[in-house]
Amino acid sequence: MNGRATSPWRMGMMAALIAFLSACSDKSRPARQIAGADPSRGLELIDQVGCGACHVIPGLAWPQGRTGGSLEGFGERPLIAGRFPNQPGTLVAWLRDPPSLSPNTAMPPTPLSEAQARDVAAYLYSLDER
Ligand code: HEC
Repeated sequence: MNGRATSPWRMGMMAALIAFLSACSDKSRPARQIAGADPSRGLELIDQVGCGACHVIPGLAWPQGRTGGSLEGFGERPLIAGRFPNQPGTLVAWLRDPPSLSPNTAMPPTPLSEAQARDVAAYLYSLDER
């Protein structure tokens, strides 16, 4: 029997994971940027669209829904919904149509345009852990 815990493949994955995690905890890395997007407009859109019905979002006093979890510190998270690399293009796609990425997700498609989703993404990337 081949000990799974010590297989070379697993060791390689562990090394990659450790490198990945330590890169993510490097607080000196620049925040993710979205060219031309306006974070303050993003917060207005978050308010208008009603993201707060399902998420606690710093900067939004009300509502503070719990279904989708808090987005506090989202700018420093490595993954979107625990599955997708937290990169601008992927986040913009997620914000418009989550089921297109993850068919069984409980987050519904939103009415955001591409430009609006970029503004919202810019706001979310301004949220760091405090
Ligand atoms: C009807 C409830 C609902 C609404 C409205 C909603 N979401 Fe979500 N959202 C969810 C759920 C549920 C998840 C978790 C999805 C998953 O893991 O598949 C989620 C996940 C997310 C994530 C990924 C979070 C993470 O921890 O990785 C982001 C970012 C997000 N939502 C932003 C928004 C924004 C911005 C809006 C408004 C434009 C919004 N959501 C509107 C329910 C909602």
